[in-house]
Amino acid sequence: MTDIKVSKLLKGLQGCVEIPADKSISHRAVMFSALARGRSLIKNFSSGADPHSTLEVFSGLGIEHKFIDEKTLEIFSDGVLHSPAKELDCGNSGTTMRLMSGILAGQKFDSVMIGDESLSKRPMRRVIEPIALMGGEIQSHDGHAPLRVFGRRLKGIDYVSKIASAQVKSCVLLAGLFADGLTTVTEPCVSRNHTELMLKYLGADLNVEGKKVSIRRSLLEAREIEICGDISSAAYFIVAGLIVPGSDIILKNVGLNPTRTGILDVAAQMGGNIEILDERECAGECVGDIRVKYSQLKACEIGGEIIPRLIDELPVIAVLATQAQGQTIVKDAGDLRNKESDRIAAVVKELKKIGADIVETPDGFIINGKTSILGGVEVETYHDHRLAMSLYVAGLIAEKEILIKDFQWVDISFPEFLNLFQSLD
Ligand code: S3P
Repeated sequence: MTDIKVSKLLKGLQGCVEIPADKSISHRAVMFSALARGRSLIKNFSSGADPHSTLEVFSGLGIEHKFIDEKTLEIFSDGVLHSPAKELDCGNSGTTMRLMSGILAGQKFDSVMIGDESLSKRPMRRVIEPIALMGGEIQSHDGHAPLRVFGRRLKGIDYVSKIASAQVKSCVLLAGLFADGLTTVTEPCVSRNHTELMLKYLGADLNVEGKKVSIRRSLLEAREIEICGDISSAAYFIVAGLIVPGSDIILKNVGLNPTRTGILDVAAQMGGNIEILDERECAGECVGDIRVKYSQLKACEIGGEIIPRLIDELPVIAVLATQAQGQTIVKDAGDLRNKESDRIAAVVKELKKIGADIVETPDGFIINGKTSILGGVEVETYHDHRLAMSLYVAGLIAEKEILIKDFQWVDISFPEFLNLFQSLD
């Protein structure tokens, strides 16, 4: 267990960092390459523990991979998965367990997926139910892992999801890849679309019409996939750059897929000084560099269709809001309670400890700013990487040192976090 201390920066953050690979895209690169026939080359793969859990799950399903260097790997597949000899361990990764539910449901064998303590508390009915409608069968412990997936012949469905969740959408689309007929998913508002973009890039018979995505059984083509930087990791630098006086930083190679850039819209609405440089394309995804300067901020309301576009950034947006003048209201974000921790309760409790004026609501929080971050206390991370990193950013403007317990959780998505921050001091 690693506790760390973080204290106020005496001068602003300066310089340039390369943002490491996107976690969501890394998972999908492994999954879809494993389903494609031939040799796939994945460049700039994430070093986070979660995408490595996906890689291990596929090793358990008989799909070989070989690292050429730390971030480049080859996957060799004949497009056929093999019956696993033991349980498939998804670690802390909800994306692995929920997307694999769709893939495994249509196989010719049965399998069992397990997860760590945090993952075993997360709701899985959201994938079990649509899979059952397709003729599949997943047994659970009262809606939680371990999940026993019985391989079945699936039929396409027209599924209208109650929640805007890329994990649910992707699970159904991946089951649709093995099902008879057409599978359609409609969401209440558009969630991240990396599954759609990458499946199309690999040749799947997939169609998007607004909030509706349809897929038919398809063979995927093995290709080279280069993964861009993760805007959810860049978010900690964006917020730090905006709130640490004197900062002026450049974040290189950040994914700018519009289904993920809600944090940039919020920062702009708050009056943040942010510039996008050198926009380009990478494996079907939009990418660019982001320049961030310290800014005077004003509060704003965050709710409705923007929520899925910044769902993972809300803990660090709470830190940002403590430095904005006025009342920031975050609403329609009840699903934050189902993440690696109950992120509404956890953010409110820990930010209050360090001096924020923040109140919990059923589906979000209300923050009154601008307040001093007092610090001088210990804070908890709740087995949650995004809580740990958000508290670190708050610590950079704290009057007195903050001790963050169990900081090692950052390794789930962003092992380079501390080194990169220290390179900007
Ligand atoms: C993810 C989707 C989001 C997000 C998670 C990664 C993905 O979850 O919170 O960190 O890669 O599909 P939901 O789709 O359940 O909101």
